[in-house]
Amino acid sequence: MTSTQPALEFPLPGGTRVDTALLQTRAYPHLRYMGSKYRLLPTLANVFAQLGGETALDPFTGSGVVSYLLKAQGFHVTSRDYLNFPVVLARASLVNQTTMLTSEDVEQISRGQNRDGRDFISTTYGGLYFTPEDLAFLDSAWSQIATMRGARRDLAIASLVLAAARKQPRGVFTVTGLRYDDGRESLHLPLADQFRRCAEAWNSSVFEGPACQTERGDVSSAEGSWDLVYLDPPYAPPRDDNDYIKRYWFLEGLSDYWQDGTAEIMEKTGTKKLVKRPTAFGSKRTIGGALAATLEQFSGSSIVLSYGSNAVPDLDTLTGLIADVKGSRPEVITLRHRYHFGTHASANRREAEEYILIAP
Ligand SMILES: C[S@@+](CC[C@H](N)C(=O)[O-])C[C@H]1O[C@@H](n2cnc3c(N)ncnc32)[C@H](O)[C@@H]1O
Repeated sequence: MTSTQPALEFPLPGGTRVDTALLQTRAYPHLRYMGSKYRLLPTLANVFAQLGGETALDPFTGSGVVSYLLKAQGFHVTSRDYLNFPVVLARASLVNQTTMLTSEDVEQISRGQNRDGRDFISTTYGGLYFTPEDLAFLDSAWSQIATMRGARRDLAIASLVLAAARKQPRGVFTVTGLRYDDGRESLHLPLADQFRRCAEAWNSSVFEGPACQTERGDVSSAEGSWDLVYLDPPYAPPRDDNDYIKRYWFLEGLSDYWQDGTAEIMEKTGTKKLVKRPTAFGSKRTIGGALAATLEQFSGSSIVLSYGSNAVPDLDTLTGLIADVKGSRPEVITLRHRYHFGTHASANRREAEEYILIAP
């Protein structure tokens, strides 16, 4: 990734706060997530430091890594997503200030003892994704987690979600076979062992900082005012829709045990996935209006918007939308970005530019 345009007018600081915050983000567990900004953190950290402020909203939180960076930079962060599992990850590592899973917690969950005989995951997903032992582990782990409360429960669920994501090739649940098995150890480690590692990783991420909160919901229902708002919506592709639930529905189901076994499942699909959750940001037909409304909603805050060159609308339209609500065009940083999620069909779209639009 290289900066092709030193677009910021103000000098980038080498301040210790930025450096210290970036060091802290190294403790954040890596979840492969479409559109995640792990590699943009140094640039974002400098932008956030320049804009300053005390409160920040991250309403498309995803993996949660940008919220975590903002907390490390001293902001009181409100983190949101319309999916449940990103909210659980944020509660475990952002809202949580001091609590960790104990070794007894981890042992209790990973031992595989099923407290109440539940088997929703084993019976629904038998023959798909995981071995029978791994599926049985997920049921038994949830039978233990069901007795836990507060931050320890969030950390345990976050560990289960991360373990399942790491055991699935490319971290997505769109295919059932091992077509993308590249022999990595993490794909073969029993899920109970993977869980232990992930529990250690989430524990290491816990740090004390400004009070933060997390909410589940559509961006349009975010209520409050913030000094800084970081917008990282789904990038609407020129063809097809951008649908997070299509890729991550298993993690979503796992984060609340398929709403205690009541979630609506598409029984006729080979994967038995959860039903789609359409969002106006997922489609080229509706994203323009959704972006305009979101920018208007946060026009009183400093806005930082992430977007990609391989998506709709284009850069000129985006800067125009921001000018409409802010009265002037934003600064733009352009970074070359290599996407991990290209398939063969979209290989020509793998190389793209990543924009960061800044409107103080
Ligand atoms: C590009 S990802 C965010 C990535 C994140 N910044 C990171 O670094 O991991 C977009 C996120 O927006 C969420 N999302 C999609 N539509 C939404 C909506 N209408 N309101 C709130 N969240 C939404 C998705 O669930 C997804 O997690």
